[in-house]
Amino acid sequence: MNLKLALLPGDGIGPEVLAQAVKCLQAVEEAFGHNFVYREAVVGAIAIDKTGDPLPQSTLDLCQEADAVLFGAIGDPKFDNDPNAKVRPEHGLLKLRKELGLYANIRPVQVFPTLIDNSPLKKEIITGVDFVIYRELTGGIYFGEKKINEAGTVASDLCEYSELEIERIAHLAFKAAKNRKKRLTLVDKANVLESSRLWRKVVTKIGQSYPEVTLDFLFVDNAAMQIILNPALFDVILTENMFGDILSDEGSVIGGSIGLLASASIGENNALFEPIHGSFPQAKGKDIANPIASILSAAMLLEHFGLFEEAMLVRHSVDKSLEKGVVTPDLNNLSEYTTSQVGDFIAHTIEESDDDFNMNDENIDLGKSTII
Ligand code: IPM
Ligand code: MN
Repeated sequence: MNLKLALLPGDGIGPEVLAQAVKCLQAVEEAFGHNFVYREAVVGAIAIDKTGDPLPQSTLDLCQEADAVLFGAIGDPKFDNDPNAKVRPEHGLLKLRKELGLYANIRPVQVFPTLIDNSPLKKEIITGVDFVIYRELTGGIYFGEKKINEAGTVASDLCEYSELEIERIAHLAFKAAKNRKKRLTLVDKANVLESSRLWRKVVTKIGQSYPEVTLDFLFVDNAAMQIILNPALFDVILTENMFGDILSDEGSVIGGSIGLLASASIGENNALFEPIHGSFPQAKGKDIANPIASILSAAMLLEHFGLFEEAMLVRHSVDKSLEKGVVTPDLNNLSEYTTSQVGDFIAHTIEESDDDFNMNDENIDLGKSTII
């Protein structure tokens, strides 16, 4: 397969982890005879420093022309503590999501059996956890009207949703549930918010076309609690933009490190793949950041294009690095492996295992189930 991929390393540890994902994609090209072309562009704080704009037009053009975007991370502390900053790195990512129409953000939460002891939660609670969050990504409070009065003393952010915005992601979430454990939980705050009541109405109606899927509802405060108390009960969680942002960080704790969680952002014509973690500025340039979330984002990219065998090989190679203890210090504080050494190990495992790699049906289904 030929693919044109836009690489947006971004800020902080973004470039370091993205480089490992690219190594793994190159190993996949080698092993399966594909041809991927990579083109790089700036986004975020680094783009502000270079051009004054967190998403320069040339970067957007590159992404629009590409088959998919592989994204590193965004954010820089010099903007975080300055409420008066006129431009912010995060605007680059938000604008990119909006311009590319990436309305569905898919964040799988799984527990790696080899890392079960890394979780702050008890083994009995997290065994068998396998759920996926479908987070609406281009609407809600993130994109509603923002106001501040002249004196700068009163501010507001509007949370607005249309039926259409809810319908399109709801269909994706129901389809995912149909191919998984057939359970969909809508997380909202329908006891308080009008927009949540619209979500319930629309999702309930769409649910009638998916009779095999059991639909239930949770208020977001209760959901935050259940994700810690009973995470194995969840299958597909569907929710609006900000609740999804918060719950996915919470979900990442279950697996023991936020450095493990990948995500796909999907639209009608474009797709972007990125770790759910941030730019981790304290680790920038130290070669200690965990590259696995970025590598697993590349696996989601492969699945998006129907390359299931390739994606599975990437996942198996990640499993092998965990089994053999070739991990960064966030997973084992005695480990001396660097970001690039972990990337090399996983890429070599991909290259070497092409001949004796056997597909197994169960895993194919698992691979498929992580995406639409
Ligand atoms: C995420 C991030 C972004 C978000 C930030 C960087 C704008 O936290 O992808 O979860 O809030 O969506
Ligand atoms: Mn977030």
